Amino acid sequence: MKNYITTPIYYVNGEAHIGHAYTTFIADTLSRHSRLMGNETYFLTGTDEHGQKIEEAAKKLNKPTQEFADEISATFKNLWDEFDISYDHFIRTTDEDHKHGVRVAFEKMVANGDIYKDFYEGNYCVSCETFFPESQLMEGGCCPDCGRATSIVKEESYFFRLSKYEKTLLDYYEAHPDFILPKSRRNEVISFVKGGLNDLSVTRTSFSWGVHLPKSLNEPKHVMYVWLDALLNYITALGYGGDEARMQFWPANIQLVGKDILRFHAIYWPAFLMSLNLPLPKHIAAHGWWTRDGEKMSKSKGNVVDPREVANHYGVENFRYFMMREVPFGQDGDFSQRALIDRMNSDLSNDLGNLLNRVIGMSEKYSAFVIDSSDVAQYHTREIDDAHTILDSLPHYLHELQLHRYLEELWKIFTIGNKAIEEHAPWVKMKEGRKDEALATVALVANLLAKASVMLHAVMPKTTATIADALGFEITTQTYTHLILTKGLLATFTIKKIPPLFPRVEEPLMQEAPKAMREEQPLVVEIPKMDDKKTTTVSPEGLITIDQFFQTSLKIGTVLNAQEVPKSTKLLKLHVDLGEETPRQIIAGIREYYSAQSLIGTQVCVVANLKPAKLMGMLSEGMLLAAKDSEGLCLIRPSTSRRAGSSIG
Ligand code: MSP
Repeated sequence: MKNYITTPIYYVNGEAHIGHAYTTFIADTLSRHSRLMGNETYFLTGTDEHGQKIEEAAKKLNKPTQEFADEISATFKNLWDEFDISYDHFIRTTDEDHKHGVRVAFEKMVANGDIYKDFYEGNYCVSCETFFPESQLMEGGCCPDCGRATSIVKEESYFFRLSKYEKTLLDYYEAHPDFILPKSRRNEVISFVKGGLNDLSVTRTSFSWGVHLPKSLNEPKHVMYVWLDALLNYITALGYGGDEARMQFWPANIQLVGKDILRFHAIYWPAFLMSLNLPLPKHIAAHGWWTRDGEKMSKSKGNVVDPREVANHYGVENFRYFMMREVPFGQDGDFSQRALIDRMNSDLSNDLGNLLNRVIGMSEKYSAFVIDSSDVAQYHTREIDDAHTILDSLPHYLHELQLHRYLEELWKIFTIGNKAIEEHAPWVKMKEGRKDEALATVALVANLLAKASVMLHAVMPKTTATIADALGFEITTQTYTHLILTKGLLATFTIKKIPPLFPRVEEPLMQEAPKAMREEQPLVVEIPKMDDKKTTTVSPEGLITIDQFFQTSLKIGTVLNAQEVPKSTKLLKLHVDLGEETPRQIIAGIREYYSAQSLIGTQVCVVANLKPAKLMGMLSEGMLLAAKDSEGLCLIRPSTSRRAGSSIG
C-alpha cells in the first residue's frame, strides 16, 4: 500500500514553535508506523515562502527577500533534522520545480474554464493573506481570524470559480464522512459551504514576491495568491507538471493541518483538485492549538515555547510522547513544564522504565542475562491473551488519529507486566525452588516489553530502539509481523544492562523567564584548559599523527550525580563513573544549557587524562566533550549506552 502523509508548509516569517513541532511529530509518527507495517510511505513537509507578509518581514530587516526566506527555511529544516524527523522531502515554495508545477496547474484551470479576469475590491488582512467580506469583520474593520487591522484593496485580479464547486463539495462531504477528521469538525465546514461560496481572487498585483503567471497569459504584473501557490505544494512535491513518477503517491492518505487552516484545506484545496481532475486526499485531519500555562502564545508576551529548548532540557522523545499523550487530537492543549514532568515521571519512569529495570535486574540475578520463553505458554497464556486484546484495538485509534487513546491503551500492557510481577513474585518462587515458574514470569514481561516497544516505536523511535537493544532484538517490519500480527514470542532474549532510561525529574528544568531576556546574558563556558606549556609537535599543516591523537584518553562516562555550583551561573559539579574505583569529579561550564537533574543517569564523553585543574576552588578531574555554535551548546554522547569507562577512538 502507498501512504502519503503531509504537514502544512510553514511560513518563513518566524522560527518554529511548539505548534509546528506538534504537527510535525504527529506526521512523523504516522509515517514511521506506516513504514514499520511495510507500507511504501512518503512524508512531506516544508516551507511556505511567498506573499506580502514575507516580503514585509524581510524589508523590516533590510534583507533581500530570498536571502531572508533561505535563512528561516533552513532553521525549520535544521530543527527537523535535529529532531530526527523522517521526512522524505522538504519542499520550499521558492523551488523552481514547484513554481513550474504551479504554473502548469494554473494553465490547466484556465483551460478548464475555471479562471477568469475581473476586479477585486475588499478588506484584506496581510497577516492572514485573506480577503474578508464586510459582514465578517470585527469592530473597527479588524480581521476575524487574527484581530489585526485590515485594509481596503482594489485591484485587477484573476478569479477561481469556487462557487461552481459548492454542490460537488457538499456531495463529497456527504459521501465521505471521514474526509474531515476529527468528525466533530465536519459540520463547521459543511455550514460554511452551505452559507455560499464566492469566487476566489487568485492573483495579486499589489506586490511581486510570488509565483508569476504562465508566460502564455502575458500578465507580468500578476503573481499567484499565496494560498493557491502553497496548497499546490502537495502535488508539485510529487513532480506534478514535471517528472510525475512520484504522482503514484497521490491521493494523499492524511493531510495534517491546524484547525485555523482547515477551511483552506477542506474547501479550496478539494475544489482546486476537482478543477485539475485529480482525486481528493482521503483525510484532512485538523488538530487544536497549544497554549502555554493556559495563555495564548505570542512574541510580545514572551511566552512562546521554543521546541528546541524543551527538547534540550527534557529530551525530544519525552517531549514527543507528552504532546501526543496529553491532548486528544483535535482539542486545544496546554503546555506546562509541570504536566510534562508528571507524564515523564508517572508514565515513562514509573510504568515503563521500572518494568524494564526489573526485567534487566531479574535476568541478571536468576539467569545470567539470558531469558528463555519456552515456559511462557504454560504459565501465562492469560496475560498474553489480554495483551493481544489491547494490541488488536490499537489500529482503530491510529486510524481515527486518537493518539492519546492509542498510548493510553498501549500503557495497559505495562500494567499487565507490573501486575504479573507482583502476583507471581519471581523472587519468592526462586527461594521455593520453582525456578521454571519464576523464569517464565520474567520471560512473559520481556515479551510484553518487546511487543509494546514495537508499537511505541513510531512515537519514541530512539528510546524504543535502545529498549530493544537492551532486550537483544531489533524493531523491524519482520519483528512487527512476528510479535504483533502473528502474536508470536521471542524465543530467547540476551539482555544488556543499561543505565535507567527515564530518571525522575523533580523540578522544572527550564527557566521561566522570557527567552529574549536570557539571550542577553553572555555565553561564556568555563572549561579546564589544556596545559599550554606542554610541548607537542604538530606538523606545519596542523596535522597530528595517530599516536599523538591516542595520547588523549577519551572515555564514556555515566553521570552519577550532578549539582549546581553555588554562586556560579555557569558551572555544574558532576560525579562521573569512568569504570574506575572512585567516580571522577568534573566541573563543567554547561549550566546554561543543561539542568543538573537532566544529566543524572545519562552518558557523556570525557577527556580522561587531562591534568586536574581547580575551578572556583573545586578540583576538576576531566573535561566533557561538547559542540557549540550560535544556537547553543550540546554534549556529545554515545548513540546507545555503553559500559562506563569504554574507550572512544
Ligand atoms: N503557510 C500556511 C500553511 C500552508 S499549507 C499549504 C500556514 N503556516 S503557519 O506557519 O502559520 O502555520 C502552520 C501550522 O502551524 C498551522 O497548521 C497552524 O495551525 C499551526 N499552528 C500555529 N500556531 C499554533 C499553535 N499555537 N498550536 C498548534 N498549532 C499551531 O498557516
